[in-house]
Amino acid sequence: KTVFVLNGPNLNLLGTREPAVYGAQTLADVEQLCREACERLNYQLVFRQSNHEGELVDWLHEAGRLHAQGSLAGVVFNAGAYTHTSVALHDATKGTGITLIELHISNVHAREAFRHHSYLAPAARGVICGLGVAGYPLAIEALARI
Ligand code: DQA
Repeated sequence: KTVFVLNGPNLNLLGTREPAVYGAQTLADVEQLCREACERLNYQLVFRQSNHEGELVDWLHEAGRLHAQGSLAGVVFNAGAYTHTSVALHDATKGTGITLIELHISNVHAREAFRHHSYLAPAARGVICGLGVAGYPLAIEALARI
């Protein structure tokens, strides 16, 4: 089965972006962590990042087609700031029926009030936040267990 790990806006800047909040590891490092987790669990990995909301919607639909064929384990999604704004990503998650884990590197609940609300969370199977980039392999492991 395949795991999609999708990353939204500004996550291409990991490593240099507010390192006190997001740490020093780059998106390539995160991809490596995900690759190791998928190898351990015998999953195929699709790992992507986009700054464009519509492209993320398209990728959720692509995951949805695999889901319909029974070949998707699930989606790990760090939607970045779109978490807090996007009804479209909520609808795409609901509309495809995919199993999705919402992920944040930082503890959004310990930050600004505008990060406390998530449009995605009601459509997600679960949420992992505040555990740094270690949350990514944990989310993949969670997909194997649920
Ligand atoms: C983030 C938290 C969001 O509030 C923020 O907009 C991001 C990254 C995280 O991984 O902690 O871009 O999703």
